[in-house]
Amino acid sequence: NSLLSAFRPWPVKVVIDRVLVRSHTHVSRVPFVRAWLDSGGFTRLEILYGACAATILIALLTGLLSYYFTHTMGVVGQDFIFALRRNLFAHMQRLSLRFHDHQRTGDLITRLTSDIQAIQDMIATGVTTFGTNSCLLIGMLVLMFWLNWQFALVSLSVAPLLFGIVFRYKRRIKVAARKARASTGLLASLAQETLASIRIVQGLAQEDQQDERFQERSEGHHQAFLEVVRYQARVGPLVDLLAAMGLAIVMWYGATRVLAGQLTTGDVVLFFAYVTNLYTPMKGVARSTYVFSKASVGAERIAEVMSIRSEVTDREGARQVSKLNGGIEFRDVSFEYEAGRPVLSHINLSIAPGEKVAIVGGTGAGKSTLVGLLPRFYDPTHGEIRIDGDDIRNYGLQSLRDQISLVLQDSLLFSGTIRENIAFGCPNASDEAIVAAAETANADEFIARLPEGYEAAVAERGSSLSGGQKQRIAIARAILRDAPILVLDEPTSGLDAAAEQTVIDALERAAAGRTTLIIAHRLTTVRLADRIIVLDRGRIVEEGTHLELLAREGRYAHFYHLQMTTEAEDTLVVTNNSPLSLA
Ligand SMILES: Nc1ncnc2c1ncn2[C@@H]1O[C@H](COP(=O)(O)OP(=O)(O)OP(=O)(O)O)[C@@H](O)[C@H]1O
Ligand SMILES: [Mg+2]
Repeated sequence: NSLLSAFRPWPVKVVIDRVLVRSHTHVSRVPFVRAWLDSGGFTRLEILYGACAATILIALLTGLLSYYFTHTMGVVGQDFIFALRRNLFAHMQRLSLRFHDHQRTGDLITRLTSDIQAIQDMIATGVTTFGTNSCLLIGMLVLMFWLNWQFALVSLSVAPLLFGIVFRYKRRIKVAARKARASTGLLASLAQETLASIRIVQGLAQEDQQDERFQERSEGHHQAFLEVVRYQARVGPLVDLLAAMGLAIVMWYGATRVLAGQLTTGDVVLFFAYVTNLYTPMKGVARSTYVFSKASVGAERIAEVMSIRSEVTDREGARQVSKLNGGIEFRDVSFEYEAGRPVLSHINLSIAPGEKVAIVGGTGAGKSTLVGLLPRFYDPTHGEIRIDGDDIRNYGLQSLRDQISLVLQDSLLFSGTIRENIAFGCPNASDEAIVAAAETANADEFIARLPEGYEAAVAERGSSLSGGQKQRIAIARAILRDAPILVLDEPTSGLDAAAEQTVIDALERAAAGRTTLIIAHRLTTVRLADRIIVLDRGRIVEEGTHLELLAREGRYAHFYHLQMTTEAEDTLVVTNNSPLSLA
């Protein structure tokens, strides 16, 4: 269609040469049209009407083609963007925790939103602008050279300079755009972190501090964008100036040639139209370089994430498992998050199917890390973990995880209803099964008291529920999954003593017949285990039943007595201060 637009000034040339001036020096090189016009014996008015009709016809055809082009590009662009965004999200979700540990959520979100938007902008407007303008340019160049190559060369004498400027600035703009994108990511992650932890921020009255940080990062963002704007602002006037020089040259050369009788007035008008039009698409191309730079920076940032492979993946020939018995064996397992700082060292542990093992130990001992190796949040740095006698890396990752139910240390809920949250790990569960799971988890009683019951909405991250309520929903979620292996990371941490007892009853029911690993600080929880493992700085230091470990008078016995005395003292204090005891 742009090639068609290149013909737009032609009727004007015909009108000037054949209607107004009737010049006889035709240097025009379009043989068919000339022959036809010469031989047809048309009157001036006929030619005029013909030229008017041709003008409208060209506009009509251009319009039609441009409609189809824009429409097709729009659809293709949308489809592409839609697929890209979906794939990127799917990819991000599946990247290993080691990747997510080092990533800022806000930055990832920026990649999913504005970086993809930049590519969309390029396809929607950039490609069209660039495509039509460069086609128009080529079309006009071809016609100009065809018409009169010397005149064409003269008219284009400033073009190399123009392109030089455009490309010089293109590079600079790209560098600045890259900086701007990165700072957008930082800004988004700060905002995301602050808003997600708004309770802490407000509770500690640190809004001003966060404001300052936001300001600081905005500053970088601001500077980077200013740089882009500065470059963009410089390109426009420079192009205009060069364009004016080009026009002056055409004017001078054209007029002298017409006076010398080598060109017709129509030719000069035509060249004039071309040269003027030549700079518009050049400016268009220059302007679209910004869109392109932004998009290519966006594409870089997306490719960066897409090219990362998850560390935890299915091995070649990994087999899908459907029903494990749940016999677990840690064989000389060592693990470090960062090289050189071991978190687990030489763990040897074997757990029979259906056995309940409690893991105790000081904070930071590596308990959560140890159980996190089972669903392969991370792979051991050394050694191997076997379930039912086979290395877990030989099982399909999804199928392995399907065999494990988890209650994590901080149970996060999703925004949605309570029912959806319980069914999160098991979306096809029936209503009866959901209620039964909630009953086993002792969550049913508080859910029943909510006005909307199971349909009650849970706010983002579960912030509308109490800690203990969230915990019980998380337990119900784990119970509903009905997996042979149950992993509980401090399941009673958010509960008072009475609620704790009901949850322990619930856990006892839930754990029946499943291999259970339970991490507990509260030693009351530990007593439901068949065996207790004491972990200290990543090593197993004691192992046995509650009574055995008490008799050994080691670390566990020390923990136990410490806790018993503090609890007794707590009770004493409460009793002494309570008005009842005074009475
Ligand atoms: N994602 C991580 N990246 C780097 N280091 C980590 C990561 N998670 C935990 N650690 C470190 O590993 C060690 C063990 O952490 P872990 O969470 O396993 O302890 P824990 O025994 O569960 O403690 P707690 O009882 O407080 O929950 C800690 O020193 C901690 O700093
Ligand atoms: Mg922990």
